[in-house]
Amino acid sequence: MPTVYIKTYGCQMNERDSEAVAAQLVGRGYSLVDEEQGADVVLLNTCSVRDLAEQKALGKMQAMVGHSRKHRTGQVFGYLGCMAQSRGQSLAEGVDGVQLVLGTQKFHRAADHVEDLLTGRQKVVVDTDAEEGSQSKLAEHLSTAAAPGRRQVSAFVSIMQGCNQHCTFCIVPFTRGRERSRTIPEIVEECRRLVDHGVREITLLGQIVTSFGRREYAVVDGRSPFVQLIEAVHEIDGLERIRFTSPHPKGYGSDLIEAYGRLPKLVESAHLPLQSGADRVLREMHRGYTRARFEEIVAGLRAVQPGIGITTDIIVGFPGETEADFEETLSLCRSIEFDNAFVFKYSPRRDTPAASMAGALPEPLIEERHRRLLDVINEVGKRRYDAMVGRIVPILVEGISRRNATRYEGRTRCNKIVVFTGAPRHVGQVIPVRVERVGTFTLYADPSVIGVDEVEGSAGNGDEVAAEAGLKVVEMTAVRELNR
Ligand code: SAH
Ligand code: F3S
Repeated sequence: MPTVYIKTYGCQMNERDSEAVAAQLVGRGYSLVDEEQGADVVLLNTCSVRDLAEQKALGKMQAMVGHSRKHRTGQVFGYLGCMAQSRGQSLAEGVDGVQLVLGTQKFHRAADHVEDLLTGRQKVVVDTDAEEGSQSKLAEHLSTAAAPGRRQVSAFVSIMQGCNQHCTFCIVPFTRGRERSRTIPEIVEECRRLVDHGVREITLLGQIVTSFGRREYAVVDGRSPFVQLIEAVHEIDGLERIRFTSPHPKGYGSDLIEAYGRLPKLVESAHLPLQSGADRVLREMHRGYTRARFEEIVAGLRAVQPGIGITTDIIVGFPGETEADFEETLSLCRSIEFDNAFVFKYSPRRDTPAASMAGALPEPLIEERHRRLLDVINEVGKRRYDAMVGRIVPILVEGISRRNATRYEGRTRCNKIVVFTGAPRHVGQVIPVRVERVGTFTLYADPSVIGVDEVEGSAGNGDEVAAEAGLKVVEMTAVRELNR
């Protein structure tokens, strides 16, 4: 039986695409392995958002192909995803030994192509065309591992592909194409199936999820198609939490803000990509909002859910960014107090308008601003995390901790990771824990203080678990309040 190794670079959309490819191959009898050495098929699912991500994948592939040649392993190597889409044929020519180059609208063809290559029916396959309806062709998920502590509690569901926003720095509209949405019934059906298999939390995924269904669905009673989708998913019995990523700030109308107060499964967490705090730069980036509008959105969210966790993406060193522009970003980060932020050094991308703008900044200056902004993000983030110490918060337990294999981890509704001493039976449950101390963007907690160790049996919703643990449901509601 052939074995497959898949390595994923980049965003959650890529993780989800890799999972769907893996599920396809497993469905045909392939088995997944954790190491490339010895695997019959080796696939890199790539990211093009920054040059660094591309260089990493190219370097990795070169090393693997070199090793394979030397030892005559006869492995099949392939590039999938964004870099395959943007570089195409040249990848198969560049590192010969690469037989498969599969674009972002062709993931559903992965198993067919791999089979053709393994059996020698084809020598090289480059498949990067656009394909109508590709957004609906990837509903397979890996069935959850049966081992205790490994059960899948949280799942990604892709709701759309592509992005039409064309931010001037961004390659995504080129690698992922125009916006194409799935239908609400097919998304709900996929979510329902996952919940039937024990999933408790679903993250709706897309490059610009707030634009979901804009062409396919009408606004109803002031509610955008995206809010209608959240409402439909919210109906699923047994589903505990709904998240989504990535939204665009321009999609945070009053209907979405209001949904955070109305829909209990929609968790108090928002990833709101800011990119810059200076109006001049935002305009050059073609972001479609101002600093004041961004502040208004955050204020609106906090009015509805005071404890909401807000994270962001910021780019430093966009062409022409002055010290004054950068200081506006610093001051906005200080005043908003993000819970966390991904800070990126601007990287010129082929075909994007920003790549040919005047005013490119020297690397050392970009480095310096990157460091200064990280310092501010760490400082305000730490304040937000420190404020959680001593609180009792409900967490959804995901499994064994990725940081410490002797402990378990879960997430608060506001998306903070909590590491605690747990047991296999906690996995998939919502349990209240008391936050004891803070690590780097991680909380450490002790569940025993409120008798959760006595909780037995399979997953229930938070209230049932609390009731089992001898807590009154009213107290559990108070616990929910505390987390806000
Ligand atoms: N909506 C998408 C955006 C993908 S890119 C999503 O978040 O899934 C993710 C982040 O990478 C962007 O928000 C931006 O902050 C950063 N980024 C995009 N293009 C970049 C570039 N050319 N240089 C540096 N950072 C970039
Ligand atoms: Fe990229 Fe802007 Fe779309 S960051 S993914 S073009 S919203």
